[in-house]
Formats: sequence, C-alpha cells, structure tokens
Amino acid sequence: MERIYFDNAATTPLDPKVLESMMPYLTEKFGNPSSIYSYGRESRLAIENARKSVAKILNAHPAEIFFTSGGTESSNTAISAAVRDLGCTHIITSPLEHHATLHTVEHLHKTGEASVSYVELLPDGHIDLEDLKHKLAGSAEKTIVSLMHANNEIGNMLDIHAVGELCKLYGAYFHSDTVQTVGHFPFDLRNTPVHFVTGAGHKFHGPKGVGLLYINENVKINPFIHGGSQERNMRAGTENLYGIVGFARALELATAGFEEEGAYIKGIKVYMMEQLKKNVKGIAFNGDALGRSLYTVLSVSFPKTEKSEMLLFNLDINHICASGGSACTSGAEQGSHVIRAINNNPNQVTVRFSFSKHNTKDEVDYLVEKLKEMI
Ligand SMILES: Cc1ncc(COP(=O)(O)O)c(C=O)c1O
Repeated sequence: MERIYFDNAATTPLDPKVLESMMPYLTEKFGNPSSIYSYGRESRLAIENARKSVAKILNAHPAEIFFTSGGTESSNTAISAAVRDLGCTHIITSPLEHHATLHTVEHLHKTGEASVSYVELLPDGHIDLEDLKHKLAGSAEKTIVSLMHANNEIGNMLDIHAVGELCKLYGAYFHSDTVQTVGHFPFDLRNTPVHFVTGAGHKFHGPKGVGLLYINENVKINPFIHGGSQERNMRAGTENLYGIVGFARALELATAGFEEEGAYIKGIKVYMMEQLKKNVKGIAFNGDALGRSLYTVLSVSFPKTEKSEMLLFNLDINHICASGGSACTSGAEQGSHVIRAINNNPNQVTVRFSFSKHNTKDEVDYLVEKLKEMI
C-alpha cells in the first residue's frame, strides 16, 4: 500500500524538475567553482545565477544571499554573529522557537556571552507584541530579537513587519527563522525591516542539506566558517554546487505556484479540520489554525486515552506519516516544547499533520476513517 504523507513541515519530496536541474552538476558539470579553467567557470556561473535568481525572488541584493547547509546553520550563524560581531549582549526570543534557535541561544547564555529574555505568549500562541515592546524598551544592552516567521509545529505566523519596526525603534537587530515560509509565501526583503532570515531547500520540494542566510547589506559580520574564499570569504569550503542549483530551481517553481497551490493546500487543511470535528470526539486544534497561520500545518490534540497514546504508532502501521510535534529524537514521552509552552495540558496527545500540493481530500477521508477505528 502507498504511504500517505502528512509530514511536509518535516520535509518534502524533491520535485522531479528540480532533480533534472541538478543532474548535470552531479555528472558532467563537476568542476570546482573555484577553479579558473572552463569546468570551474561553468560551476561558478551556475552558483552565481542561482544566487541572482534567489535574490530576485526575495527582492534582495545578490550580495545579501549566502548559501549554507540549511536552516540550522543559518540560524546558528545569525544569532552567534550578532553576539560575537555586532556587540549584542541580550537576546530576546520565545519559547516556541525551533531548537536551531533555542539551543544556540541557550549555549550563548551558558557561556556568559549574552543574557536571554523570553517574550510572553497570548492564549492563541501568538507573540505578545506589547510584552516585546516592554522588553525592548527596558533593555539597556545591545539586543538581538530572534522570532520565527511561522511556527513549524502549530503554524502560527508572526507579523514580521510589526516586529521589525519595533526592533528599529529600539535599535535592536532582528533575526527571523523563515524556514517554514520561504518557498510558501512572497517575500520583499528590501522593504522588510529584518537583518537576518533563513531558508531550507527541503521544505519546498528542493534538496536537503542546502539553505539560505540573508544578511542585510548594512550588517557586517565576520566569516562564519574559516578557510577558502568561498561565499565572498564568509563561508569557506567547496560549495554544494548541485544543492545550490536545486535550491534556486525549487524556489523558482514554488514561487510560480504559490497562489494556486497555497489555495489548494489550505482547502485540504480546512477540509481536515471539518472532517475531524465531525467524526472525532473531544479534539482541539492548537494555535490560531484558521487565523494568522501556515496553510501547510494543522496541529491537533486528542484526549489522552490508552488508545490515543499509541496514535502515532498506529498511524504508522496504517502507512500514514505524521509527526508528534517537531521531528524529535527523544521519544514521545518528552513531548513537544511548543505544545508545552502554549498549553500545558497533560491529558492530551498532539499530532501535527502538514500538507503539500501532493495531498488529496481522499487521503484525509482515509485518515479520518482510520482515526475513528483507532480512538
Ligand atoms: C522552523 C524551522 N527552523 C529550522 C529548521 C531546521 O532546518 P534544517 O533541518 O534544514 O537545518 C526547521 C526544519 O526542521 C524548521 O522547521
């Protein structure tokens, strides 16, 4: 039986058209981009064309785009650089951030390089902007704010402009983890008050192991990996040539399909909400599911029973892939730090379903039938 894949916030399948664009660089066009002969020049050109294309789509300057190994490296780099190179000694973040942010922040706190404040949350899981303002106003130290554009577990979306304006007002740097929104929503970075944003190719049908760090042109940081002169002396090491080519192609394809695919996927999400409400007793949706939210993510809490505790396991037996929160290696009992932060109800079992253009309403119907049997 075919698997049903409802875990697209964890990763997405590679688009065959993206693979096609990468293939020449996995085979005959193998030159090292730093080599001066024709093979090398061809590879260099492919990378710089990818950078130009990505910059154009995000309305940034190509010099502001750095290719990395993914969202994790990009967020590590931005936050650490703000502390080490830009003089920030205070970090304001939230308890809902991805571990790529939270563990970086905790490390900088532990080493004594920065103090940390966690912004308050509203009952629907959104960031309390009044509290952010209050914390910024009360911060005598140089501050970096790190708040994600969209939460990967509950889907809530931040008003990135409002936060950026607050940071501007109080002279703070602003990093936003945009891993769940790049490739899913339009960006206009030239007109967005943000210093660092991130991206990961595998969240929008591109390859794994390649990502993006945007650094606003007015921000100057030191190299984040030392060695050769790649990525304009900022990130040494022979480039992930085919990954970078694939990243740009995936972003081009995703951008061309935004509107139509976004509306289709939102239809799947809303349909699942309706069907679950109709057919499964006692369920609740986490976050602002029908409000300021990703169209790709639906977080569902089920009443805790002996049966529902086995839910992810039983979904897997029925060839349905979903997630118990973020892809977490430590097992179910520890649960999700995001769900704990917004709703500390131990009598619930939470499952995140996340969608792509490949999902169908038939798959939702199958899921709901199986859930009725399981619960
Ligand atoms: C919101 C968010 N930030 C960061 C990451 C990390 O990205 P990557 O796995 O490409 O390093 C992910 C993906 O797991 C994510 O969902």
